[in-house]
Amino acid sequence: MAAAISVTPLVPYNRKRRPSAVKLRCYNGVEEDRKQWEKFYKRHQNKFFKDRHYLEKDWGHYFCHPKVLLEAGCGAGNTIFPLAKKYPQLYIHACDFSHHAVTLVKSHPNFRKDQINVFVCNIAEENLCDHIMPASVDIVTLVFTLSAVSPEKMPIIIQNLGLVLKPNGHVLFRDYAIGDYAQTMLMNKNQVISENFYFRGDGTCSYYFSEDFLSRLFERAGFVVVDVNTYNKEIINRARNITMQRRWIRAVFRRP
Ligand SMILES: C[S@@+](CC[C@H](N)C(=O)[O-])C[C@H]1O[C@@H](n2cnc3c(N)ncnc32)[C@H](O)[C@@H]1O
Repeated sequence: MAAAISVTPLVPYNRKRRPSAVKLRCYNGVEEDRKQWEKFYKRHQNKFFKDRHYLEKDWGHYFCHPKVLLEAGCGAGNTIFPLAKKYPQLYIHACDFSHHAVTLVKSHPNFRKDQINVFVCNIAEENLCDHIMPASVDIVTLVFTLSAVSPEKMPIIIQNLGLVLKPNGHVLFRDYAIGDYAQTMLMNKNQVISENFYFRGDGTCSYYFSEDFLSRLFERAGFVVVDVNTYNKEIINRARNITMQRRWIRAVFRRP
C-alpha cells in the first residue's frame, strides 16, 4: 500500500472573478481521470502524440553527462524515447497512472530495460519514494502532464516530485498556456469545470496555465523559478479555413 502524502491546498483562482454566465461542469476526481486516460490509450494506442524532438533544442544542456531523469506522466513515451536515443548516458524513470500507457512504453521497439524503468503510479495519490530512492533524480520532465490534473491536486504532485529530486535538481515544464485556441473552443462549448480548467470531448481534462499561476505553484512548494515564458504559433488549417493561435508555456524550476 502506497504511503499517503498531504499538502495545504493552493486556491487555484479568485472565485469571485468567475464569469457568472458560465455553466460549470462537475469534476469527478482522479480515479475518473485515470479511467478516461485508460480509454484514451486503448483507443489511440501510441498514434496520438508525436515524438517530442524539440525538447533537446531548448534543454539539451540539462541532459548531457550521466544523469537520472524522471518523466512524470509518460504516456506512450513520446518524451522519453527521443531523449533516450539522443542521450544514451541518461537513466530514465518514467511513470503514468494508465496501465495501458505503461504497457505501450514497455512494448516500444526502443525500450531497453537497462536504461528505462517504467512503472504505474498515480502521482497525485502515491508517494513516488515508494518507487524511486528519495533525492536521487537530477531532472524531472513534466510535459503536458500537469494540465491533465485538477488544479487542487497540482500542489501535492509538485511536492511529490520534490521528494525524489536531488538538491539543485530541476523540473523542466511544458504545457498549454492561457489564451490557447483550444481553450477558447472549450469555453465556447461550455466544457468549463473551473477557471482555466475544462473537459475535453473525450473525457480527459485540460488546464491552461498563466506564468503567474505556475510560478506561484512551484514557489509555494519551495522551488526557485529559473525561467518561465509563453510562446505562440499561428497555425493555419486550410482544409477547415481556420487560423489557430496556439499558446504554450515552458519553464524551469530548481529545487534549492
Ligand atoms: C498529454 S499526456 C502527456 C504524455 C507525455 N508526457 C508526453 O510527452 O507525450 C498526459 C499524461 O499524464 C498522465 N497523467 C495524468 N494524471 C496523472 C496522474 N495523477 N498520475 C500519473 N499520470 C498522470 C496521463 O495518463 C497521460 O498519459
